[in-house]
Amino acid sequence: MRTSICDRLGMEYPVLAFSHCRDVVAAVSRAGGFGVLGATTLTPEQLDMELRWIDEEVGGKPYGVDVLVPEKLAGMERGSGFNGAVLADMIPEEHRRFLDGLLARYGIETPAPGSDDDRADSEAVHSMREPFAEALTGEGAVRLIEAALTHPVRLVANALGAPPAEMIKAAHAADVPVAALAGKREHAERHVAAGVDIVVAQGYEAGGHTGEIATMVLVPEIVDAVAPLPVLAAGGIARGRQMAAALALGAQGVWTGSVWLTTQEAETHPVVKEKFLAATSSDTIRSRSITGKPARQLKSAWTEAWDGPGSPGPLPMPLQPLLVDYALHRIRRAAAAGSPGATQLVNYFVGQVVGSLDAVRPARQVLHEMITEYVDAVAGLSQGLITSAE
Ligand SMILES: Cc1cc2nc3c(=O)[nH]c(=O)nc-3n(C[C@H](O)[C@H](O)[C@H](O)COP(=O)(O)O)c2cc1C
Repeated sequence: MRTSICDRLGMEYPVLAFSHCRDVVAAVSRAGGFGVLGATTLTPEQLDMELRWIDEEVGGKPYGVDVLVPEKLAGMERGSGFNGAVLADMIPEEHRRFLDGLLARYGIETPAPGSDDDRADSEAVHSMREPFAEALTGEGAVRLIEAALTHPVRLVANALGAPPAEMIKAAHAADVPVAALAGKREHAERHVAAGVDIVVAQGYEAGGHTGEIATMVLVPEIVDAVAPLPVLAAGGIARGRQMAAALALGAQGVWTGSVWLTTQEAETHPVVKEKFLAATSSDTIRSRSITGKPARQLKSAWTEAWDGPGSPGPLPMPLQPLLVDYALHRIRRAAAAGSPGATQLVNYFVGQVVGSLDAVRPARQVLHEMITEYVDAVAGLSQGLITSAE
């Protein structure tokens, strides 16, 4: 069941697993797939530590690293530094009032500014916010990739735009291929012009930032547009039959995200994990309420409020995360402590396949069940061909 992408990237099965959790990345790579660590909220030093841990865990098996460098940002340019104070001034008072009202309605307490409680949470939020904002401008992302390239990474990837030229140059100098996510054909063509080696065609049903074209339509379109470059199919792939469909559409492998969020290894918030296990495929929504760009996530009181009547509407990236990251941190903490209001609000990015995630399994088992079902699906299809030819 090897495809040429397996030889290129050095894994046994053409299954890539995006995760922010190093345990998932290592478990998938060890089991014969290819883990990709989402690095956007890390500093280069933190990434170095995470990769040192992964290096020890995977015993030479391949893995990759992913960053986010958007094409468009409000109030910031690619290559410019991050100035939190300037951006904070761009947040309208109406939005701050709406958020305060929402938190009050659901009984989420906000501690007095400067109190011990406030200081602890502010530090936790800032430690993620600064590297995230730096990475978004491209400069921080290039530093992350340079840190990654001191490890035996076999792939670097970028989402939300073509990777910056310095990122591609640094990766190619280390003989590491570069992948980029595309939600429509035009994105894929821009990636090819920028010099990427692999295109990830990610359809509408995917978790996280996603476009408007379904995987079934997008994958063959991009396969044809970028040939002979290899394409990985993403969005809505959590099992072997979906993988067989993706390969039938011309992809050389699959790039998956949501399916790993309910694995044993995933550090998904416990209340969110329970919600994922109970959710149906109708329970996600593409909303700008967390990051300012459309991202598929679980519907909750949070998305209903931001996308409903009475909302001033989410701000563009990076203003929306700047406005809401502290509140989201408080909501997650309160939900873990059993607050009913926070439990209604709390959510996370996940794709439509959430409807089929109904048990917690080890990542290795998820991968092996996917491969077994893929093999059965392909055998069933060839059997069908033989029977109909007789
Ligand atoms: C929780 C979550 C966070 C994500 N964050 C990123 C990210 O930081 N960078 C990225 O390239 N893709 C990100 N994605 C998208 C995944 O890389 C992948 O394309 C997507 O999950 C595939 O669709 P699926 O969710 O249906 O498997 C994220 C997806 C999820 C579910």
